[in-house]
Amino acid sequence: MTIKKNDIYIIKITDIGNSGEGIGKIDGYTLFVKNTLPEEEVKVLVVKANKSYGYGKVIEVLKPSPYRVEPKCDVAGRCGGCTLQHLEYKKQLELKKNKVKQNLIRIGGFENVEVKDTIGMENPYHYRNKSQYPVKKENDKLNIGFYSLGSHKIVNVKNCLIGGEYDSEIVAKITEFIEENNISAYDEKTGKGLIRHIIIRIGYFTGEIMVCLVVNSKNFKFKKELINCLSIFGNISSIVINYNTNKTNVIMGEKCESIKGNDYITDKIGDLTFKISPLSFFQVNPLQTNKLYSVALEYANLKGDEVVIDAYCGIGTISLFLAQKAKKVYGVEIVPDAIKNAKENAKINKIENAEFFVGKSEDIVPKLYNEEKIKPDVIVVDPPRKGCEESLLRLMLDIKPERIVYVSCDSATLARDLKKLCESGVYEIKKVQPVDMFGHTGHVESVVLVKRK
Ligand SMILES: C[S@@+](CC[C@H](N)C(=O)[O-])C[C@H]1O[C@@H](n2cnc3c(N)ncnc32)[C@H](O)[C@@H]1O
Repeated sequence: MTIKKNDIYIIKITDIGNSGEGIGKIDGYTLFVKNTLPEEEVKVLVVKANKSYGYGKVIEVLKPSPYRVEPKCDVAGRCGGCTLQHLEYKKQLELKKNKVKQNLIRIGGFENVEVKDTIGMENPYHYRNKSQYPVKKENDKLNIGFYSLGSHKIVNVKNCLIGGEYDSEIVAKITEFIEENNISAYDEKTGKGLIRHIIIRIGYFTGEIMVCLVVNSKNFKFKKELINCLSIFGNISSIVINYNTNKTNVIMGEKCESIKGNDYITDKIGDLTFKISPLSFFQVNPLQTNKLYSVALEYANLKGDEVVIDAYCGIGTISLFLAQKAKKVYGVEIVPDAIKNAKENAKINKIENAEFFVGKSEDIVPKLYNEEKIKPDVIVVDPPRKGCEESLLRLMLDIKPERIVYVSCDSATLARDLKKLCESGVYEIKKVQPVDMFGHTGHVESVVLVKRK
């Protein structure tokens, strides 16, 4: 059977994809349909048909799932941010646990590994401490919001229910500033136009706000006007311009200029305080981060005399958590500004047994082991979605630390990497704990304890 664009089918949704979209089959042909849920029977219009898979748009939900709920957000279903708001929150947690389990089985071949119940949020709204709003002119109208799922079409978002509580007022004020000063918006196709993104970061416990404007230029002549426009917000402690003239999807360029206040904000996780600069990674969900790091710390099982390597350490958050219980922690991170923050963070928190290195984990960890003769008892890895470099996994098999704690935001690459660690026969998976850092989205964070046999 050939499936074509504009065909209409009635299908049963059997699974859910990585971005939270429903998956159904038509005679073996896979159709991804957003805003649908497993077990639902839906009438769909095929909007894009590739050879073996395609995308459908739901026309009518004929038999709804008993777990379907009315989304609170008025752009849910159109905005690509929350793809699961139409599913009961408790069910979202089950679905995420199942996703981790299925990936461990399908990709990793781990049939018998127990996955714990996902640690959920008490209130899965307004949990994000960072939002990135693309700015675009469409049909002569300034659009600032979020991309819709699978496209770069902007959905105007007036009040994001998972974003920070001041976001909408700040975005509204910057919209006025752009319009009053007749400033152009960036056009991805031509590479022309000035304003690319508005990034808002808030310290959850300190209330400090950083506003960062990403511009497609090497200079920015509206600094005074921008400072004036944002002066009504007493809690903005940092205004930053990020210069990005690259014609890419990567949001930020390498150069930042702080035009008002500090070039960082501070926030707390547990008892520790952290400086966060615009280019540094910081977990987006502060309350859940505390739970995530507590699991990582429990799995590291430190007694006080261990040497630990924290690869992919960001601004040293996990490193400093661990350093309180270990003899020595070495943190490794690719972004120089993040390592600058990590060193300052160690000082602020009076932690003297943590040392930080800039560079790729796959380059620095071998040097620490082979040249500096550092033999870690525990290695913690918390890589980006693409997972660990294969050479780093092989090195870990040479080093043979007692425990490896793998913190992951992508259970598919996690399963792939765990397979490589465990098929050697040296290691086995002991514990798997999913944590919901990204409520209403299809993403899930996991912490895994891998132990030497
Ligand atoms: C998921 S974040 C984790 C950061 C930190 N552990 C935390 O919890 O905040 C991944 C980090 O890895 C860094 N990174 C990406 N590739 C890297 C590499 N090859 N070597 C070292 N760090 C890398 C990123 O800049 C980012 O800070």
